[in-house]
Amino acid sequence: MSNKVVLVYSGGLDTSVCIPMMKEEYGFDEVVTVTVDVGQPAEDVQEAADKAAAMGTTHFTVDAKEEFVKYLCFPSIKANGDYEGYPLSTAIARPLIALKAVEKAKEVGANAFGHGCTGKGNDQFRIEFVLSALMPDARIIAPMREKNMTRSEEIEYAQAHGVPIGQSKEKIWSIDENLWGRSIEGGRLEEPNYTPPEEIFRWTRSPENAPDESRTLEIAFEEGVPVSVDGDRLDPVELVVQLNRIAGEHGVGRVDIMEDRMLGLKVRENYECPAAVTLLTAHKALEALVLTREELRFKALVDQEWGRLAYEGLWLHPLKEDLDAFINHTQMRVSGIVRLKLYKGSLTVLGRDSQLALYNEDLASFDSKTFDQSLSAGNVRTHGMQAKMFQQVAGLEHRLGGGARTALGPAIEEHIGEAGEPI
Ligand code: ARG
Repeated sequence: MSNKVVLVYSGGLDTSVCIPMMKEEYGFDEVVTVTVDVGQPAEDVQEAADKAAAMGTTHFTVDAKEEFVKYLCFPSIKANGDYEGYPLSTAIARPLIALKAVEKAKEVGANAFGHGCTGKGNDQFRIEFVLSALMPDARIIAPMREKNMTRSEEIEYAQAHGVPIGQSKEKIWSIDENLWGRSIEGGRLEEPNYTPPEEIFRWTRSPENAPDESRTLEIAFEEGVPVSVDGDRLDPVELVVQLNRIAGEHGVGRVDIMEDRMLGLKVRENYECPAAVTLLTAHKALEALVLTREELRFKALVDQEWGRLAYEGLWLHPLKEDLDAFINHTQMRVSGIVRLKLYKGSLTVLGRDSQLALYNEDLASFDSKTFDQSLSAGNVRTHGMQAKMFQQVAGLEHRLGGGARTALGPAIEEHIGEAGEPI
C-alpha cells in the first residue's frame, strides 16, 4: 500500500493540527482528509474544505445527512435512544463518520487513519472501534491523545506550521454539531455547579426569549418513525431540520446533565437537541398507547441496553442486532399521531391517536356497564397474596422472639396484630 493516511477531519483546531503532524511526525507522504457532513453548519463544512486546500491535502466532503437520519437517528427513535438523559446526538454520528472514512480509505488505497480525539472522551472509542472492526490491519494514529497537547500548545504549533486558524471554532467551547443535536463542552462548562451562560446556545431560545404564543404540533409516525409534521409529509432530513427550528424557537431541547463517560469520568454536559427531544417524547407517547404493558416494561430494559451500546459506539455488536430485532418487531404497530404543545421551554403531549390503540373507551369509561365490575372482586382478593402471608408469618415469628419484623420498621408494627387466618 502507498504511504497515505486518511484523516477524519472536522476542520477544527485539533484535526487541523494533525495535518502537518501526519507528514512531519508520522512520516506520511500524502494526507487524505475526509469531512463527513452529518448536518453541521454548512460554513464549517466549507471551512474544512478551504483549510484542507490551503494545507495541500487530498480532500473529500461526504454528504451523509440522509443516511445519518435514516439509519442512525430514526432507529434511535424506535429505541427511545437515551443515555442518562442525553439523546445520543454526537454518539450516533461517530460510527457513520468512521464508516465513511473506511470507504474512502478503500477507495484511495490507504491503510492508516488519523483522528483528532483526545484521550479523555468517548469519541476515541466510537471511532476506533468501527475503523478497526472494518479494517483490522490498519494503523490508527491519535496525535492529540499521544502528544497530550494543551490548547495553547496546539495554537503555537499551528502558527509555526502554517495551519490556518479559523475564527469560528477556536473559542473556549468545544462544539460538536449534527442534525440530531449540538454538544457544548469545555471551559467552565464541565464544572457541575457552573450556570451555563446564555451565549453557549445557538439552536434554542431561552424560555424568557421564546414567543409568548404557544405552538401546537401534530407528528405522524409509521412503524416507529416520524413521517409528517402538521399533515405535511416530509423527507427524513427535512423533518428533522424543521423540528429543530420549530422546537428550538420555543426553547425546547436543552439538556444539562452530569454524564458518566465511558472511562468513568463524570462530566457536566450541555446539549441542544430540539428535534430529538420532541420526537422522542412523541414516540414514547404513541408507544404507551399501542404497546401492552408487558411489552413496555420489557422494552424499557431493551431500550436502556440499546442506549448504552449506542453511547459506546458499538453498532456492530451482535447484541445490538439482537436488540434491534426485538425493537423493530414492536415498532410494526407504532403508527399514529401525537399532538404536542411547545411553550417557553416546555413540551406537553396534548393527545395521541392510533388505529392500533389498545384503548377501548367503552371498557374504560366510568359511565359504561360493558365491563362487569363484579368480575374484579376475585382479583382484588388475591392481590398481594404472598405479602399478606408474609405478614402473618412475620407476626408469628415476632411473638416467638424472631427478628423478621425488625426489618419492617416500627411504623407498621402496631397495625399487625395476632396472626389471623391466611387467605
Ligand atoms: N459527551 C458527549 C458524548 O460523548 C458529547 C461529546 C462531544 N464531542 C466533542 N468533540 N465536543 O457523546
